[in-house]
Amino acid sequence: LISGLARRVGVRTYLVGGVVRDIILGVPNHDLDLVVEGDAIEFSQNLNRLLNGKVVSYPPFGTSVIFMKEKKRIDFASARKEFYAFPGAAPDVEYSDLKKDLFRRDFTLNAMAISIYPDNWGELYDFFGGYRDLRNKILRILHPLSFVDDPARSIRAVRFEKKYDFHIEPFTMSLLKQTIRKNLLDSIKPDRLKEEIQLILELPNYYRYLERLYQLEMIPSILPGCIWKREYSDRFIGVERRLPEVKTIIGIDKFLYQLTPLFDDFDVKQISLLQKRLALSRHFSHKVVSYHSYKSEFMSAVEEKDIRPSEIYLRCRLMPLEFLYFLLSFYPEKSLANQRINRYLKEWRTIKTILKGSDLQEMGIKAGPHYATMLDELKLAKIDGYAKNRFEEEQLIKQ
Ligand code: CTP
Repeated sequence: LISGLARRVGVRTYLVGGVVRDIILGVPNHDLDLVVEGDAIEFSQNLNRLLNGKVVSYPPFGTSVIFMKEKKRIDFASARKEFYAFPGAAPDVEYSDLKKDLFRRDFTLNAMAISIYPDNWGELYDFFGGYRDLRNKILRILHPLSFVDDPARSIRAVRFEKKYDFHIEPFTMSLLKQTIRKNLLDSIKPDRLKEEIQLILELPNYYRYLERLYQLEMIPSILPGCIWKREYSDRFIGVERRLPEVKTIIGIDKFLYQLTPLFDDFDVKQISLLQKRLALSRHFSHKVVSYHSYKSEFMSAVEEKDIRPSEIYLRCRLMPLEFLYFLLSFYPEKSLANQRINRYLKEWRTIKTILKGSDLQEMGIKAGPHYATMLDELKLAKIDGYAKNRFEEEQLIKQ
């Protein structure tokens, strides 16, 4: 379809970047990145007449995106040269040719193009040795200023290194370390940074990437206040194993849940720094602070032998859900604590009294805010095994 349109309008068009890399590696990639030797915006609008997606264009950049069903997208850029005014800044755009477009990219493996123009369909354009690097599993920066142009590329470097099991070649590694030493990572904007972390969190065994960021001393600029300990690996594995279930639970912040093991030894004094660094909601930091405030009481309660279920319930209720699911990974599967947390999550959390406020009114109890307290106490009694039916609930209320 794209190729046909390119021929009709006489515009050379190439697949570029990650999709080319993934075609060569034989791994699926659902996003198409196209470079058009012409007006990319007009091209995308023409193509969308056939695709019926939604086009969003960015005229100052000469770029455009077609968003389609199932989160699929096609990105369009005009062959162009970019230079950056300062690290992390938006690129200025100037039309140029394919080679220049590819040269502004991050790594050699991401700087190849495949023509989809009919007369040389499938031809690979590899000006910078990307194919050889891919074959040799080497991650190589395209030009010495690449990390300075966009310091977020250093996080991408870690992602590609681990994801494809590549080796970061020595010169690239020395530039990466310089970028870190010079604190250039601090100039990555919060939203951009969060996006990069999220891309990592989508990957299997994402903890290995976090561990690598820590080894490379990138964590202080990315997740201030967090450290890494060897025992985290097992907890992250548990957290990841529960992710499919946790994702379905309303009210869970998936981003926070996936990072919970890091907050165990988190320096909570740094919470406002972390909040600012990633533009996190107040709700997010509130949950982390709650975890730290209630953790020790919570732990002694769930580990205590002689304790009423309702007391455990009350401790669990104070704990943010993300951390409750994390604590399931913290305690061994068959431990008392694990079983109690599970019981809270599966049963007690949603337990309801049969009686409602209207029933209390019918029983002649004067309406007021004390209804909530009475019904809550009734709920605690149910959790402790009393008030099994409506009659027993009424008896308890009457007492
Ligand atoms: N790119 C870049 N510098 C960045 C981000 C992207 O040079 N900081 C270029 C790379 O050529 C990359 C292409 O833009 O291949 C597309 O970027 P993106 O879609 O973010 O990533 P992919 O390389 O496709 O990889 P993935 O899909 O795994 O994120």
